[in-house]
Amino acid sequence: MIRVAIDGPAGVGKSSASKALAKYYGFAYLDTGAMYRACAWWCLKQGVDLDVDEPDERVVTETVGEFFTGDHFDISVDPDHPSVSADGEDISEAIRSSEVSTHVSKVSGIIPVRNVLIAAQRAYIAREESKDSFSGGLGIVAEGRDITTVVAPDAEVRVLLTAREEVRQARRTGQSVGAAGVGAEDVAARDRIDAKTTSFLTAADGVTTIDNSDMTFEQTLDTLVGLVDDAI
Ligand code: C5P
Repeated sequence: MIRVAIDGPAGVGKSSASKALAKYYGFAYLDTGAMYRACAWWCLKQGVDLDVDEPDERVVTETVGEFFTGDHFDISVDPDHPSVSADGEDISEAIRSSEVSTHVSKVSGIIPVRNVLIAAQRAYIAREESKDSFSGGLGIVAEGRDITTVVAPDAEVRVLLTAREEVRQARRTGQSVGAAGVGAEDVAARDRIDAKTTSFLTAADGVTTIDNSDMTFEQTLDTLVGLVDDAI
């Protein structure tokens, strides 16, 4: 069983690279950011007020707890069809809305919420691990902000994927570096808030940093494949 943990800031291309890596090896793929986004989406749907500087921690935690324990939430770890659903409704698109993007950090910044999600993420990883005995060679790629440090610090491969801020901003908006980015989400602002609760701006001990600012997507993937091959 190979566990690949990939952390990094917004706009670095983590999801695309992680998904492609999982497909390459036939591994499962866990997008932990999608889980936090789904929680924010659910809170907004339940009418929880996230438009305040500090949302009510108790209300948010209870709402998120009910989302998981009430069996409303589901996620597919199939890299060919990754999806997130709530009560059977596919919300994979909805969780990418700018409304969710601007509110997600308020939910992910609440420690009891993180504890619920960290436990759920470890359970998904363990579930894939338990399949190992049957197939003799499975693995999982899990990506987020705290996978290399908190969720799976003992993963066989641990990577911090990073890129210069202007490159990440441009990738996020699909524009060239230096373009105006009208209406674009300010990824730097989200990173600043996220960095208060998770450590993804510098690599922890034993974590390999890949700065892909000047790499093509294929070069990023090749570099990741090289690291996984070395671990197999
Ligand atoms: O990866 P993505 O940009 O979709 O993540 C959305 C948000 O989820 C992040 O901005 C962060 O607030 C939160 N997150 C987190 N810990 C993770 C993954 C994501 O706090 N492991």
